[in-house]
Amino acid sequence: MHSNKEMVKMGVLETGGVIQYSKGLEGVIAALSSISAIDGAQGKLIYRGIPIEMLAKYSTYEETAYLLLYGELPTKNALDEFTVLMRELRHIPPKVEMCITELPPNPHPMDILKVAVAHSGLYDPDQYRCCREGVMRKVIRIIAQIPTMIAYYHRARTGQEIVPPNPELGHAANFLYMLHGKEPDEEEARIFDIAMILHAEHGLNASTFAAMVTASTLSDINSAIVSAIGTLKGPLHGGANERVLKMLDEIGTPDRAEEYVLNALKEKRRIMGFGHRVYKTYDPRARILKEYAEYLSKKYNDTKWIEMGEKIEEIMIREVGKKGIFPNVDFYSGIVYQFLGIPRDLFTPVFTMARSVGWAAHVCEYTQNNRIFRPRAYYTGPDYVEYVPIEQRR
Ligand code: ACO
Repeated sequence: MHSNKEMVKMGVLETGGVIQYSKGLEGVIAALSSISAIDGAQGKLIYRGIPIEMLAKYSTYEETAYLLLYGELPTKNALDEFTVLMRELRHIPPKVEMCITELPPNPHPMDILKVAVAHSGLYDPDQYRCCREGVMRKVIRIIAQIPTMIAYYHRARTGQEIVPPNPELGHAANFLYMLHGKEPDEEEARIFDIAMILHAEHGLNASTFAAMVTASTLSDINSAIVSAIGTLKGPLHGGANERVLKMLDEIGTPDRAEEYVLNALKEKRRIMGFGHRVYKTYDPRARILKEYAEYLSKKYNDTKWIEMGEKIEEIMIREVGKKGIFPNVDFYSGIVYQFLGIPRDLFTPVFTMARSVGWAAHVCEYTQNNRIFRPRAYYTGPDYVEYVPIEQRR
């Protein structure tokens, strides 16, 4: 059996090239991109060349979205125009609103989001526009509408009145407003905005790759985003943030963390929010989110969650740090979201809301110089098997 850590030479292609096998496509370069870069050894992340720490300090989600989509920071006028457009496009079609608010309250909100994004594509006035401007409008519409879809579903399933988008508020603040029915304080809105910036883009992760595979067939942008949402949902990817809080619940108090983690490692269970395919050191996004988790814990005088988180981090680094296992973006984000009053099953939808721009940026970039994705599987079955008629089979 081949190790999943190596790329194995398997033979020769019809075209003469060497066939290589890399489980989970580890280490495979599948596209050229100028959107973001990760240095997994140093724990660094840049969007269009700008370090994530600077964007978290000085930028806003809207400005970062513009940077990712258009390749450079906007001028003041360009940002104003982009912000106005994002705000105008927040409203979802009435039939989509009706559908979301009448859906049963029990499905996972990520499944609702798949339905809503697919449904909303049917009413997109730019549906058949293929020019750059038309594609950008479609993309910005989806990014602008996802928060409305999440908030409307949550209000409806909890029997609360729908709160329409507030054109006076920025992307992050407006989401909290639609979710809670009241404007967030400035500090909380800013912390949420920073979390959105940190989640906006991350190279060819599984969900971005899923979006690109779909788009590479020249399918539509809504289909690409639906593929990505389904992929982000999984607990090995974006679904981990919700599981982290579930784990903290199970642990209960910081003094029980050591026993829990050691048992999990002994039983070869994964600790959610740790490990990464690319980072073999501390995820820079987790470092920033940890600061805000600490800050909010002190602000609300509720330190149980952060104490448990820090204890788990200490034990994990001691036990498996040498394997390159450190906290990833999903570890501290849940604690931050919890203090912002976001229900746990909305953590991954909130991740979706931020990452939709990264998906869209990659789809636009890749399809400009498109080639359909079509890898191969190395056949390990028998060379020839006789067909046995059904009445002779045992
Ligand atoms: N807890 C305990 N051990 C772990 C963890 C973890 N969270 N992650 C990896 N390991 C161990 C593996 O058991 C393996 O050990 P071994 O070499 O002794 O067998 C080694 O680290 C390497 O693991 P791989 O599975 O090869 O790593 P891979 O790159 O395939 O997986 C992944 C990366 C899926 C993120 C993994 O670390 C994981 O399952 N983490 C938990 C889920 C999670 O937090 N996902 C969110 C990632 S960030 C994001 O997607 C937004």
